[in-house]
Amino acid sequence: MTSVHLRCDECLTRFELLHRHAGCSDCGGLLSVVHPDPMVDGTTLQAQFARDTHESGVWRFSGIIYPAREHAISHPEGNTPLLERGVLSAWCGMSHLHIKHEGHNPTGSFKDRGMTVAVSHARRLGVPAVACASTGNTSASLASYAAHAGLPAIVFVPAGQVAPEKLAQTAAYGARILLVEGDFDAALRLARGASEALGVYLVNSVNPFRIEGQKTIVFEMMQQLGWQAPDWIVLPAGNLGNTAAFGKALAEALRWGLIDRMPRLAAIQASGAAPFAAAFHRGFDALVPVTPTTVASAIRIGAPASYARGVGAIRSTRGVVTTVSDDELMAAKAEIDRCGVGCEPASAVSIAGLRKLVAAGTINPGANVVAVLTGHLLKGGGIGSPGPWERITPTLGEVERVLRRSQ
Ligand code: F0G
Repeated sequence: MTSVHLRCDECLTRFELLHRHAGCSDCGGLLSVVHPDPMVDGTTLQAQFARDTHESGVWRFSGIIYPAREHAISHPEGNTPLLERGVLSAWCGMSHLHIKHEGHNPTGSFKDRGMTVAVSHARRLGVPAVACASTGNTSASLASYAAHAGLPAIVFVPAGQVAPEKLAQTAAYGARILLVEGDFDAALRLARGASEALGVYLVNSVNPFRIEGQKTIVFEMMQQLGWQAPDWIVLPAGNLGNTAAFGKALAEALRWGLIDRMPRLAAIQASGAAPFAAAFHRGFDALVPVTPTTVASAIRIGAPASYARGVGAIRSTRGVVTTVSDDELMAAKAEIDRCGVGCEPASAVSIAGLRKLVAAGTINPGANVVAVLTGHLLKGGGIGSPGPWERITPTLGEVERVLRRSQ
């Protein structure tokens, strides 16, 4: 029987799991973790997951992501809620809607699910340091898990383009921060080159173990839904690591009998940073990089590194890719915030995109949909102005005056 191993997406060369590079050392292609099919059927697997008492919503699924739990560097993470809010369903034009809120992870974004696996693997390999390029969430997550693992972390971020809250978080966890004069794509090119040259282990989503961890967003969502696959899953798309992870998780879940039909993916981009959506509308002829501009700084990405995998995920799920403007995504964020759920701007593209796809007739109003919110409200992005506050002198008369006026 074959064991869990790595395989290059491009040249199909096989590597052992403990291969020391994040990419293919033959052709530079991306590596995927290949799992042998489980020895048991889907129902038995589901029962095993239900019985598992591991406190992490990632490591509970270790058998189908990274079967070496004893190496886990975990906070723990995952176990994020599946929310239902009537006002948001109605705003999207849907009769009901599930919202998977990944902002409830320990550092406030879905990145923790991939990072717990990648950093656990890095420490197992005995690497001297870990690195990533980031628009802010990956860097905060890496900094936190590296601190937990006792590993030095170096992060490459686009200077002046990361929310101050994320930079402060990354700094507080103790990572070394390099402010790169350029956009995210330039920072990622530099991080890839530097990690290769300096022997530092790269944990961007081009790292196969990040993808394995992020698959658990899908597995956990299915478990919460009683393993009844929804019709659609809607998610934000930037560098396409998450789209790739969702595609892999869904293909495996179907193959292993965890679900009995394939949901469709709807990947949403901000219109000023939408090379994936543009390629989708041209029948995925080729990726044409763009100079990205959007208020949603987390997804301000012009040359997604996991483009080919993203294409595979959309094709294999009969998915769609669409865009929303900055005004549309900020309007969605206001709705999400005001119902008490809250998220950062990049996450709000899920809800903005869903509303558009329902209005366009692509998604049926009665469909079962899970929209993924990727990051917490405290990740920054503002509340629109003016704020609902005003300064007063400490007198009862002043309080009365203000409250009377706002009635
Ligand atoms: N939502 C948030 C909040 C993000 O931070 C990101 C990516 C995405 C969505 C898009 O996910 O890149 O897998 O398609 N943030 C990365 C970072 C780039 O560095 O934190 P993707």
